[in-house]
Amino acid sequence: MEKKWWHRKIVYQIYPKSFKDSNSDGIGDIRGIIEKLDYLQDLGIDLLWLSPIYRSPLADQGYDISDYYNIDPRFGSLEDLQELIEEGKKRNIGIVMDLVVNHCSDEHEWFKKACEDPEGPYGKFFYIEDHKKGEKLPCNWRSYFGGSCWDYLPGHDDKIYLHVFHKKQPDLNWENPLLRKEIYKMINWWLDKGIAGFRIDAIINIKKKLPFQDYPADRCDGLSSIENMLKEATGIGEFLNEMADECFRKHDSFTVGEVFNEKDSELPLFIGENGYFSTMFDFSTTFIDETPVSTVEPLKDLAEKYKKAAFASHKRVEGIGLLSNIIENHDEPRGVSRYIKPEDLCDNSKKMLAGIYFMMPGIPFIYQGQEIGMENLPEVKSMEELDDCANPHLYQRAIEDGLSEKDALKILSLKSRDNARTPFQWSEDKYTGFSDTEPWLKVNPKYKDINLEKQKDDAGSVFNFYKELIKLRKNPDYLDTMVYGEFSPYHEEQKNLLSFKRKADKTILVVANYQNEPQSLVLDRPVKSILMSNRKDICFDNGAISLQGYDFIIAELEN
Ligand code: GLC
Ligand code: CA
Repeated sequence: MEKKWWHRKIVYQIYPKSFKDSNSDGIGDIRGIIEKLDYLQDLGIDLLWLSPIYRSPLADQGYDISDYYNIDPRFGSLEDLQELIEEGKKRNIGIVMDLVVNHCSDEHEWFKKACEDPEGPYGKFFYIEDHKKGEKLPCNWRSYFGGSCWDYLPGHDDKIYLHVFHKKQPDLNWENPLLRKEIYKMINWWLDKGIAGFRIDAIINIKKKLPFQDYPADRCDGLSSIENMLKEATGIGEFLNEMADECFRKHDSFTVGEVFNEKDSELPLFIGENGYFSTMFDFSTTFIDETPVSTVEPLKDLAEKYKKAAFASHKRVEGIGLLSNIIENHDEPRGVSRYIKPEDLCDNSKKMLAGIYFMMPGIPFIYQGQEIGMENLPEVKSMEELDDCANPHLYQRAIEDGLSEKDALKILSLKSRDNARTPFQWSEDKYTGFSDTEPWLKVNPKYKDINLEKQKDDAGSVFNFYKELIKLRKNPDYLDTMVYGEFSPYHEEQKNLLSFKRKADKTILVVANYQNEPQSLVLDRPVKSILMSNRKDICFDNGAISLQGYDFIIAELEN
């Protein structure tokens, strides 16, 4: 694999609305991020991905952009962002922006012009179709947030437009070269400002299978998941390659694609040498608890399923490129609440999970608050407590699947995106040090126990474990092995044991006892030294390690 500058990096995702409020309006902002740059430098991260801060009505929290060239005043100004870029550079932290170009906001001037004159040039920036009341829609695709992906074009009762997400997020028509040109111009404008790159939102949706057609209905609403269409859409590579050529390759930018459903044969094109993207997320573990119907039952064989998913996806890309590793992001519940049984959730199991995903091949991403072990919200009592536009669909779906109202709310507690969006838990002060006024989304009541202030100086805290992991990965003696070392599962068949080796100039063994019960692991060669563990006094005896529940070890083996 050709070495690239981003292979060695550690990325931190900020959800700006919930990170730090600097001006007492209850909404996190860019100046709040600047205030915390020293904290992020001390943690050891290299790249900061900001979820969208562009001008937006915030119908989908900024993933609905009404002006790509401006910052939303709630987050600050272009000057603030420029300062963040400069201050970041001083600390060797690059800024990665979110690139949302499958759709824009219905308040973007392109869409407004399209509504004024659907036959004009801006009408062709979108998917607009003629439609008379009572007629069949062009296709039966279900929008990701529920309901049909067609709505009447504002001001017209004989025209409709396509939105695969929220109705305030009209899809941009990538088949139109003029639209693509506008997008590339905008991307280059940002790259010329000195940002390090982009996280690329929902990008797999830009290629539609045309002409529009129905797919078999997969729920009682008579609609069909967009995924059924995406499976048949071909030719996205032409768009992605063009975008990479026009923008990213010229700037040697870091790009990470939010890609689902990619086909095996496409992997080298997506993330191989000179691929469309530098990397893309590994979402494989986020699917292990996705059953066809909603259920509040705990997942059976969690550890084995996690192991299988994580190992398989890295085997799949071996020799091709690097994936980006996550346990959570702003769209997922908190990783520790999802991948550890509730009864086993503690600092040690949180550290184990951190160690596993960090040591797998790939680029580690840390989502804000993950480094202090932030957890899901406790049981949600009513939908009003929450904010996300995806919640009603999640709830409705649970009801359709036959769950009681109480259990449907429980689904929100387990799955809502708001779990990850509550304010960062800085301290045990009122509003958890995020703001001095009531935040836009409620603080997780667990903040008295879980906050940075409490963990900062405690050598045994989850926070310091993350710091140590980052430091180890950056240690020049091990860096090549951690980044490029060959990955081989070790005793893969041993139940609830997740162990693997990474081998380059050194051999590193990673061992996790992914259960509460003890077990032991036989070693095939002597341990040279223990590089890290989440428990002192782990016992080695005659070539075996005795593991207590959730023990985690990184060791160097004799070569
Ligand atoms: C991505 C974002 C998500 C957003 C969606 C639509 O999946 O991560 O937050 O709702 O795209 O832009
Ligand atoms: Ca603010």
